[in-house]
Amino acid sequence: MEFVDTHAHLNDGKFADDVEEVIARAREHGVNRIINMGDTMESSALVAEMADSHEGLFAAVGIHPEEAHELSEKDIDQLAAWAKHPKVVAIGEIGLDYYWEKDAEKRQLQQRVFLRQLDLARQLHLPVCIHDRDAHGDVLEILKREGKGLRGVLHCFSGSWEMAREIFRMGWFIGVDGPLTFKNAAKLPEILRQAPKDMVLVETDSPYMAPTPMRGKRNEPAYVRYVAEKVAEIWEMGLEEVAARTTRNAEALYEKMTL
Ligand code: NI
Repeated sequence: MEFVDTHAHLNDGKFADDVEEVIARAREHGVNRIINMGDTMESSALVAEMADSHEGLFAAVGIHPEEAHELSEKDIDQLAAWAKHPKVVAIGEIGLDYYWEKDAEKRQLQQRVFLRQLDLARQLHLPVCIHDRDAHGDVLEILKREGKGLRGVLHCFSGSWEMAREIFRMGWFIGVDGPLTFKNAAKLPEILRQAPKDMVLVETDSPYMAPTPMRGKRNEPAYVRYVAEKVAEIWEMGLEEVAARTTRNAEALYEKMTL
């Protein structure tokens, strides 16, 4: 049985002491491939480097909305240079975060940075990994307006069924992780039940949001199995089939992600 953790932050300080063991433990649990997300220029350099030196590790490069700053041409050129590496499979994680950012001008800055990176992904023919927290309306509006010729995933999906349906119509994916397994998962299990089974990715967002029964602990890619088990329960199918399907889905979106 093989899984792909399509969204992790192994460059996070919480893995500083044991990242090699974390990657080995993932492999022991069938998580042979991990996509490590950049969120700043510095971390994008790091994830590209880590992908280069680790089998089964891939990367996405980009500026996270919480880290938004005006992008210079030099920044864009540097992101593009990293993105040409064979193991950099996407532009991410990019998007909008209105939960942490209440200031209207800073939200506009987030939008400019987001748009510029969508543009970059389109030029490079790369998919995008999107962070959307409390910004569903603007994210959907921007993707409808500016998403032509682009593919991607709304990672850690937290929108409504109506939003999910729009996303699927555009041929985009949703990513599910720890919150799906929480007792207060609200509408997400029902959204997943109705979702096309070829449009769903599993992920951890390590080190954050560890799934039940590890909730509250440091998350790590090996735990993507707990997310997949919850998907299996909701889809009423075996874990092996969920592993096979979600792996195929990850390969369909992230075309540069080879074995
Ligand atoms: Ni993330």
